[in-house]
Amino acid sequence: MSESSVNRDLARLAGFGARGDAVRRLAWSDANREALDWLASRFEEAGLEANLDAAGNLVGRWETGSGDAVVVGSHVDSGPEAGRYDGTLGVLGGLAAVELLKAKGVEPRRPVWVVAFMDEEGVRFGASMLGSRALVGQDVGEYLGRRDADGVSVADEMRRWGLDPARIGEARAIDRVGAYLELHIEQGPVLDRAGEEIGIVTGIVGMVQARVRIRGEANHAGTTPMEGRRDALVGMARAALALREEALARGGTATIGSVAVEPGAFTVIPASCEFSLDFRIGSREEFDGLPELIEATVRRACEPEGLEAEVELTDADPPVEMDAAIVAELDRAAAAEGAARRRMPSGAGHDAMLIAPHVQTGMLFVPSRDGVSHSPQEFTEPEHCELGVRVLARALETLVG
Ligand code: HGY
Ligand code: MN
Ligand code: MN
Repeated sequence: MSESSVNRDLARLAGFGARGDAVRRLAWSDANREALDWLASRFEEAGLEANLDAAGNLVGRWETGSGDAVVVGSHVDSGPEAGRYDGTLGVLGGLAAVELLKAKGVEPRRPVWVVAFMDEEGVRFGASMLGSRALVGQDVGEYLGRRDADGVSVADEMRRWGLDPARIGEARAIDRVGAYLELHIEQGPVLDRAGEEIGIVTGIVGMVQARVRIRGEANHAGTTPMEGRRDALVGMARAALALREEALARGGTATIGSVAVEPGAFTVIPASCEFSLDFRIGSREEFDGLPELIEATVRRACEPEGLEAEVELTDADPPVEMDAAIVAELDRAAAAEGAARRRMPSGAGHDAMLIAPHVQTGMLFVPSRDGVSHSPQEFTEPEHCELGVRVLARALETLVG
């Protein structure tokens, strides 16, 4: 089978927002816009009707057949110092799979959409998966006021792109979708270590994200005795270690990715600090108790230090199971390609977790070298990208054929 377009397109897309070896294509940034403008031209070249929906999702439609569409996609927004495969492989792989079906003369009996979801990463505004939330009809009004480090809001950026934030609800399209497939890099070490080529995702962990604010008392670094200080950073440090223990005890993950300390001076005891918390867990029962667990753990860490703490939940997306029929279909498609494969859970969050509660959803992983992701060191072998496209194309053909 001839090479698909995926590796060429991955290299081209990596040029939008390139910074040395890294990619920086934050949601709603100019680099994101330029990438979507190029992607729209690629969609049109492949015979898809491309347009930006009311939430900034780029949707390429192969309007053929009738009934609910099969959607293939992922995201092209990235983290601050990212790699070139996270998300992009799912969008470009979906496009390449459509091109393979067209080249084969397949006449789908139902529409096929290729979608680049807006702001999957959520790193700029703390509003992750905005595009897929809008597509499934979640009320995202509260997200539009969230601001980045420069005080720019999501709504400001939507207006700058020529979109009306008040009309984001028009992006709801889930009632016209019948199934969703997402090809993605594993972003972990399992396949790479096992020397396997394909992961068939069985489920996605639940994710709670929060902003935690701890308030103490500024004072002189030299004259204030250690006893009785109200040092906000000590509170954060105690909370960080306690949250790590709670995650370890539950087989989950707890990550503090960003910290801001005020007043941030050598000689002043920190009066306050704010940090991000990303807590993930696979079990629904444990997930449901996370907000209380986080609150209690932070309080227990802060009270002995005389500190006040406030936990603001910014996202809480429960764990989801992939559709059994889609899992079986992906397994069959991978077997047909002779791929060394396994079924496995996803420790990373994906747009698929928003879609799975609504329609048949499945995900396909290809290996990440050394399990590295969200880093310029992120790498997947070109032949694994090709294999992922072929397996995706087989499953897509079955779903639409
Ligand atoms: O953080 C995640 O799990 C995803 O890569 N945004
Ligand atoms: Mn991703
Ligand atoms: Mn990511």
